[in-house]
Formats: sequence, structure tokens, C-alpha cells
Amino acid sequence: LFFAMTTPLLQLALDHVTRDDAFVLLDQLEELVDIVEVGTPLLMRYGLSIVSDFSTRYPHLKVLCDAKIMDAADLETRLCFDAGADYVTFLALTDDLTVRACVEVANEYGCQVMADMICVPDLPARALTLESLGVHVIAVHTGVDQQAQGRTPLDDLAALRESVSVTPLAVAGGISPRNLAEYLRYQPSIVIVGGGITSASDPAGAARTIRQAIQTGH
Ligand code: 5RP
Ligand code: MG
Repeated sequence: LFFAMTTPLLQLALDHVTRDDAFVLLDQLEELVDIVEVGTPLLMRYGLSIVSDFSTRYPHLKVLCDAKIMDAADLETRLCFDAGADYVTFLALTDDLTVRACVEVANEYGCQVMADMICVPDLPARALTLESLGVHVIAVHTGVDQQAQGRTPLDDLAALRESVSVTPLAVAGGISPRNLAEYLRYQPSIVIVGGGITSASDPAGAARTIRQAIQTGH
């Protein structure tokens, strides 16, 4: 199986930090992560200029803009890619026409779109459609508000691992050095970590632990 052969990428989600704190963190962590995510709250606070700042200051990192696009996809994906994003997210619940527009614009730019599966009721069925529409990455995601109710993305990842064999899978929602091994068993292509690094007492230590686990596979 091809997905068993590759080392997952580590995506650092920056949600609750200020622009200045984001730079301090990234200066420490840039060698440990592969993708830096402009988290949705960061995007709301600073706008797309922070996407441009990250892509200029950390040219060896991929930048993901967590725009969670739901409509007007042609315009919105273009705005994100023009600002320097390598990946843009959209909400998988949206209409197939919107998905198609995201994929077309990404392909035109040589970039990628990630489907955020938050709140999708039938994950395998939706994933099948997204694959047929050419979506580049499918992200299993338990949101922050759902996490507060004790939910995790583990069972959803297991379910999608059964049904998706071609499109790379990402996983997000409360992943930390403590629970990472459970997720690695299902061979995600991208592991997304926010608070598990940014809220740790030693963010660089947490990132190093996660990086090492990803390299060794457990
Ligand atoms: C919330 C998000 C977060 O970026 C994502 O959940 C990762 O953060 P954490 O690891 O803290 O859950 O997109 O909607
Ligand atoms: Mg996010």
C-alpha cells in the first residue's frame, strides 16, 4: 500500500497566537514542521497579509490558509493562492460545484485544496465524491467546540482509512504528543497539530517529540 511507505508531514496550526508570537514560535519551530497553517482565527485577525508574511519569511515551509471556504470558491481560493498559500481549505459539506471550483483553481496555480470534513454525516460517502472531484487532501477534523464535549477524530480517521486509498488523508483535532501514536496507526499523510504544540509549556520540545514519533512511525 503506497500510503504505508511515506512519512507523514507535520502541519502546525497557529490559531490563538498574535502575529508577533507566531513569528517567535516559527523561528523556533521552522526546522521541525513541514506546513505552517494560518489558522482561521489568525486569518480573521490579520487577513491574508499574514499568509504573505509566512510565505516570504519561511520560503522552505508550505503555507496552508485555513479559509474554510463554503461558497464563491473561484474568487476566494484565488485570493488565498495569490497571497502565497500552497494549500487552501474548504468545507466538505458544501455543494459539489463549489468543490469543483476549488479544485480547478488549485490545479491552475499548481497548488492544492484540502477538504475539511467537519460535521460531515456520512464520511465514506462524501470522501468518495470528493475523490472523484479530484480533491487533493481529505482532512478528518473534530472541531474545537466538539473537542470540548470529549470528541476526538480517531474513529473518523479509522473509518476513512477503510474507504479512502488514493487521496492523501490529514487529521486534526486535539492531537498532542500524548495521543499521537493512536493516529499514526492509521497512516495519515498529514498530521495537523495546534494546541498540542502552541499550548505546551515547551512548544519546541513538544514539536521535537512529535517529529521524532512521525519519523519512527509510533
Ligand atoms: C479548528 C481548527 C484547528 O486549527 C485544528 O483543530 C487544529 O487545532 P488543535 O490541534 O488545537 O485542535 O481548524 O477549527
Ligand atoms: Mg485550523
